[in-house]
Order: sequence, then structure tokens, then C-alpha cells
Amino acid sequence: MSSRDELASWQFLVEHAKEMKQCHLNTLFAQDSERFNKLSLKLPHLLLDYSKNLVTDKTMSALIALAKECDVELWRDKMFAGERINLTENRSVLHTALRNRSGTKLMVEGENITEVVDQQLEKMAVFVKQVRQGEWKGYSGKRITDIVNIGVGGSNLGPQMVTEALKHYSDDSVRVHYVSNVDGAQIAEVLRPLDPARVLFVISSKTFTTTETITNANTAKRWLISASFDQEAVKHHFVAVTANIENAVNFGIDAENIFSMWDWVGGRFSLWSAIGLPIALDMGFDKFIELLEGAHQMDLHFCQTPLEKNAPAILALLSLWNTTFLGSQSQAILPYDQTLHMLASYLQQAEMESNGKSVNWHGEEINYQSVPSIWGGLGIDGQHAFYQYLHQSKNVIPADFIGSVESSTPIGGHHDTLMSNFFAQTEALMSGVNEKHVREDLKAKGRTPEYIDQLAPHKVHQGNRPTNTILLDRIDPHSLGGLIALYEQKIFVQGIILQICSFDQWGVELGKGLAAKIHQELKQGGEIAKHDSSTFNLIQYYKQIRYGDV
Ligand code: F6P
Repeated sequence: MSSRDELASWQFLVEHAKEMKQCHLNTLFAQDSERFNKLSLKLPHLLLDYSKNLVTDKTMSALIALAKECDVELWRDKMFAGERINLTENRSVLHTALRNRSGTKLMVEGENITEVVDQQLEKMAVFVKQVRQGEWKGYSGKRITDIVNIGVGGSNLGPQMVTEALKHYSDDSVRVHYVSNVDGAQIAEVLRPLDPARVLFVISSKTFTTTETITNANTAKRWLISASFDQEAVKHHFVAVTANIENAVNFGIDAENIFSMWDWVGGRFSLWSAIGLPIALDMGFDKFIELLEGAHQMDLHFCQTPLEKNAPAILALLSLWNTTFLGSQSQAILPYDQTLHMLASYLQQAEMESNGKSVNWHGEEINYQSVPSIWGGLGIDGQHAFYQYLHQSKNVIPADFIGSVESSTPIGGHHDTLMSNFFAQTEALMSGVNEKHVREDLKAKGRTPEYIDQLAPHKVHQGNRPTNTILLDRIDPHSLGGLIALYEQKIFVQGIILQICSFDQWGVELGKGLAAKIHQELKQGGEIAKHDSSTFNLIQYYKQIRYGDV
């Protein structure tokens, strides 16, 4: 199989990029009054405008041709059918089956996947009702008021991001808290105001071996037992979501209170499974189902729409265009909705853990730039912090702007003020302002020629900075489910085109293994093994100050 950069469409794009680098978005808009209509898509619950990217019809045709040459649709169908497309782990990739609301049966290697998914959903529904209605009692017979989810990475970011985004749907039947960091400061702060008799811990760990999660779970167990003086209390206060039933049972969790995970669900794609339990506990099971429905609707769009109008495919191709061909190194995620304040962190894991790799499916080093680093944060706060860099630095950072037409919390004129910034920023990033305009403006304000000469270069904005705009109707379970699935499928398409194994994360394992060894060395009196001189001396310094050890 040829390397992607040998494909005709790839080589065309390399040459075409040289030409497009000379072009300005202002010119492209001036040349074509239909540009927005051509380069935007209306989908259920959202509008995607990608017209502010440095592309022409020719660019888009070449990108689509590349997707076709890479058999994106074939690979997509393989994924949905449960073929083992997670090559290095020899697993299927079936998070889409978790949200398949069409009722169609999916048989994979003799297993009825729809049935196992439905069984877990039913179990979740019963449990959620019991807890929310106060039927689930703690060790002293009191109802549960607080849920503490203990998990990290995909077992934290997805559920927490969604809980935050849909806070306005929470009816306060229970309060949901999250603990992910092994820094004791976090769990101590979460547990401090809580009544152990009223807390339910959800231990979310696909492997049930993740050190950070198990350390926090053990601390939670000790906290509960020291208040209840009863080992048996664990059964009433702990449930688990895991694929490792044995470890969860050994921890002390009742087998009946364990929700299943499967090896065909990757951690960072798992919020649709029982990993989403805290979401359902927070806002009710029906709302969780609406989240799945929104994602399923996006999956249907992804499966049924030609690539030319296929939103996830287009977002993936634009990312590839901006990064691999035009040379950007990073991409900003800029939500203008307070509820989406964790979206950038969530997408960091989704995209960077999936596609931040440098060998292809065959284990050969790729000789092209793969995906950008993902970063970002709330738009308004960012405007007063890092947007200066977006507007005038030498580096061009393509950005996704995400906002909503309706506010989830309408107060006075806040939403229009917020959204005026949202629209203004993408316009400013694209249009910029040239020297002639700057000079005219300063002159009209009565400035002296000397002052104008001095200030003009500082006020020039080159513009031509690409953005996508995603405008949701409102932030609700359907639209949020669709938005997350849009990005998930974008990441899938990126992986196929770049020939990257998107569903493993070997890069995380190296550090994990080393930390386990160093953990032993950090013990008082523990021997420090051979390391490079920097690591050795850092550990020694730490131990000297901590224990007076040498
Ligand atoms: O960070 C590596 C990783 O394996 C993620 O992919 C995963 O989401 C996270 O750790 C947590 O893993 P687990 O759910 O097994 O505790």
C-alpha cells in the first residue's frame, strides 16, 4: 500500500497549497457572493460555516478526492460493522453501537452487540431511578444526596464535560462531583463538606488498574469506613463501571453493582456507555437517552451523506489542509458558551490521544505533519488573554468557534453581548485591517503625521486567519450529543487519511510504567535505580528534603 503522500490528490494539494498561501480570504469572499452558501452546512441542531477557510472549489474537490482515494467511506463502514479496525490492539471500535437508537440488530463475531448495550442501558435506567428517587439507601438508611465519580482521562473528561454543559438540566435530585487527580488536594476538597452516609461513589475505570483512580478509590473507601465503622458499608456506597469485574469485586464492590464496559469501547469515546452514569444521575435517564439520540443523528449524517456535504469529513479535511498542507501547528477550540468550558480539554484528549502519533498503520514513520495540538478555552475570557496572539502573531492558528443561538441562561442583554463578540472575532481574524485603513482612521481622529507613522505598523492586522463556526440552536442533550459525535467522527476521518492508528494510546503507557518504578524509589530508604543524571538528582533532591534521605 502506498504512503499517503504518494497519492495523486496529495501531491496536487502540496502544489495547490503554494498557490493558496498567496491568496487572502478577503479576495475569495469578494470574488464569490455565494461563498457562504457553498461552504456551510445546516444539520439537525447546528449550522457549520467553514467558508472562512483558505479554500476554493478546487481545494475542496482535491480534498474530497483525497478522502475518496483513502477509502474513507469503506473504513467508516468497517467501523460501524464492528470489524477490528483498532489494528494494534486487534479490537473492534464500536462506541457508535452504544448510541445506535435505530433499534437495528448488530451482530459482531457471533455476539449481539445491540442486546448487550440494551441490557446495560436498562440496568442504568433502574439504578438511576432508585438513586434519584431516594430508594437507594446508604449504610444508615439515609437517601443518597451526592455522587462522587472517581476516574481519569476518558473516565472523567467526557462525563464531567457533559455534566457541566448540561447543568441547566440538572434538577438537583443529587449533586454530582468529580475526582480525577491523584493529588490528594482534590479528593480532600470534594469530600470535606459531604456526609459519608449520603455519598455514592462511582468508580469509573475501564481497566480498574489505573493507579490514580485506584488510589482515590481506596481513599474514598477508608473515608467511608472510618465514618461507618463497617466494612459492609462499601456495598451500599460504591458502584463501578469497568471491563475488569474481577478487580472491582476484589475491591469490595458488589458484583450486582458493576456496570459493564467492553474492549470495543475506547476510554475517550466511552461517555455513551455506563461511563456516562453520572450524567444520567445528574439530569435523569431520559436526558441521557436524548444525548445518545443526538449523537446517533450525527452518525446517520456521517454514514448517509456524500463526502462533499459530510460535516465530520469536511472538518477533518480542513484540519488536514490547515495543518499538513498550509503548515499550522495547533488549533484552538473556542466555545462562547460558559456551559462548554470543558470542551477544549475534552477535545484535547479525543484528538491528541487518538491521532498524536508519528508512525502509520504499517509501523513506518510518516513524513508529513499529522494533527495539530489542540488547546483553547472560553472565548470571552480568551479575548482578554491569548487572542492577541491569534490576531497578530507570526503563527497562524486555525480556530473553531462554537456558540449557541439561544442562551441556556437568558439574563438581560447578556447573550447578544456575548454573541456580538463571537461574530466579531471570526470577522476580525479573517478580514484584518490593512495599513491604508489604519492610517485613514488615525488621520480622521486628528492624529499627527508623526504619531501615525509610529503607530500604524502596530495596528495592522494581516487577517487571513481561518476559522470554523459551529452555531448550535441551543445547548441541549440532542445538540451536545451531535456536537461530540461530529468531533469524534472528524477524528476518525483524520486517522484514516493520515493512516494513523487512532484507537490506541501507547504513548501514555511509557510514562505510566516509569512512574510505577519511581514510586517504589520514592519510599523512604528506597534505592534509587539508575537514571539519567537529571532524573536521578531530581529524585535525590526530593527525598533529601522530604526525608533527609540520601
Ligand atoms: O490516559 C490513558 C488512558 O488509558 C485513557 O485512554 C483512558 O481514558 C484513561 O487512561 C483511564 O483509563 P481507565 O478507564 O482504564 O482507568
